[in-house]
Amino acid sequence: MMRWGQLFKRKDLQHLIQELANENRLRRVLGPISLTALGVGCIIGAGIFVMTGRAAAEDAGPAITISYAVAALGCVFAALCYAEFAAMAPVAGSAYTYAYATLGELLAWIIGWDLILEYAMACACVAAGWANYLNEFLRTCFGVEIPERFCSDPFSTPGALFNLPAVGIMLVVTVILIVGIRESAVANAALTLVKLVVVLFVIGLGFTLINQDQNNWTDVPYGKRLSTAELTVSKVVADKVRGNRPAKDLTKAELAQIDVDAAYVRAKLALDKAEAMKIEMVKAGDMPAEQADAELSAAQATLAAAQAKVTDPARFDEIIADINAAAREATAEKWGLLGAIISPERLKPLDDAFRTNYTPYGISGIMLGAAIVFFAFIGFDSISTHAEEAINPQRDIPIAILASLGICTILYVLVAAVITGMEPYYQIDTKAAIAAAFRKQAEAKGSGVLRISSVLIATGALAGLTSVLLVTFLSQARIFLAMARDKLLPPSIFAAVHPRFKTPHISTALTGLVICVTAAFTPIADLEKMVNIGTLFAFVIVCVTVLILRFQDPTMARPFRCPLIYFVAPAGILVNVSMMLFLPVSTWLRLVIWMGLGLVIYFAYGYRHSILGKELVRDLAKEGIGPTDGPLRS
Ligand code: ALA
Repeated sequence: MMRWGQLFKRKDLQHLIQELANENRLRRVLGPISLTALGVGCIIGAGIFVMTGRAAAEDAGPAITISYAVAALGCVFAALCYAEFAAMAPVAGSAYTYAYATLGELLAWIIGWDLILEYAMACACVAAGWANYLNEFLRTCFGVEIPERFCSDPFSTPGALFNLPAVGIMLVVTVILIVGIRESAVANAALTLVKLVVVLFVIGLGFTLINQDQNNWTDVPYGKRLSTAELTVSKVVADKVRGNRPAKDLTKAELAQIDVDAAYVRAKLALDKAEAMKIEMVKAGDMPAEQADAELSAAQATLAAAQAKVTDPARFDEIIADINAAAREATAEKWGLLGAIISPERLKPLDDAFRTNYTPYGISGIMLGAAIVFFAFIGFDSISTHAEEAINPQRDIPIAILASLGICTILYVLVAAVITGMEPYYQIDTKAAIAAAFRKQAEAKGSGVLRISSVLIATGALAGLTSVLLVTFLSQARIFLAMARDKLLPPSIFAAVHPRFKTPHISTALTGLVICVTAAFTPIADLEKMVNIGTLFAFVIVCVTVLILRFQDPTMARPFRCPLIYFVAPAGILVNVSMMLFLPVSTWLRLVIWMGLGLVIYFAYGYRHSILGKELVRDLAKEGIGPTDGPLRS
């Protein structure tokens, strides 16, 4: 018989706090500065170093700075709600614990399961970004790189086997975390410092390098934006060459042919674009006719050069038709779920109305950009997962959350402005944008100083991404620990604390293994979106929860009260749901599948073993109400 009461049974907050006195607890070693450093260490990472470049090139253009502002807004509202909650329940577990105390077991499980996306899966994305920067570092320092075969997942790159550096760094991080929090806190502080210095360096030096020949924020014609057809070229061309064979069987000659074919197709598309631009922009008065003619001649010359290298140009008719078909699908994805509900054709005029050189991809570009660079802010909430290790959690957790979020927002907007200012957005490197921008300038100017700068940046990025991995992974282990203490997960695995290191060693090793496999083989761009939708969803639930609790339990002690809660919480829900709506339907489907899987696990394990569930069974038995089901009769 289903015990409905258990699904909504809440964990008593006082009981939660009393639990802190129990043995086997984590050591209280973190003060406000360490907590803020932990936050910054966790926040600044692949989002700014990797995703900003791709989102600027492909989604938002120079308006990526606006995307950052939108994402920051969603986070600030959620952060205020998080801070209120974290101060009320200063135990490990973050939103999971808070939901258990307010919304009941089922929703707590849903959030806990969702947070796995935010923490564990985010680590896989960051590890993949780390691999990009390792290659950028090797390229700039030694002129060599790890072959793509061993540096990407097989789905994103034709011919790739798996992402070796990503696996390597995850193994190192796993070992460090098994050894202990104090050691990793010291390592984290050092890595975070290096990262901050590098980010400030990028901003300082970068601003002296922007807008030298043209103003890249406002003077790049919006007609030059990358079309969805251009973005699908590599995949379609590679599929044609590969046929039905596995990607790993591609020979060197075939890989070279893919490059030549893709360059030719791109040049063809660029010519179409230059023709369209001449009509669209000159007619709208946004571009002088002479400039349009010059663009057209340049595109013709590029096409002639690319054509000289290809054999049998007639075979490209079919390829172009396939690209156009793939592009139609990709265009529909630009508006994400919203496009599926309303239809992209009806929404397109909105983009056109807001299109300028600064906002070349219109509103959908800015919002999709926000939903992607949102990744850059993930992590501030992990501060609350360390409440149990904080010396004075009620005061310091809210301070650390808001301080680290504020610091990062300012830095992000400045870095985004620098990289979109240094080169036209459509030329920005989509893998390691920041270091690559400096390397390209160094090559163009033959400057040794700039070359050294790009080495420094790549080194700082590697350090920075490592610190993100450390803190994010640490947070995941803490959430598992909290869930296992409540017996929603097997305590023998997830709550086992090492007698000497005092770390959840088994759970860390197991999770590390899963992350390694994910980082090695999963298409990272898809995984990033899934991490984002999962985190946005968690933020929305936190905003809802804090609001509900104000009504449900108005007198409860709140060491930190979210100001203007009746505005902040609904605004947090609105902004974060808006970003979710711009993510593709496929991402939503994956979220639904992930959540479905979580529910199956809950009913198969957590529901049957949870401590609260057992208490409920005992209470019911005392009142003479039954029957109870097997595993709970203890
Ligand atoms: N915010 C973290 C990053 O950008 C997850 O890498």
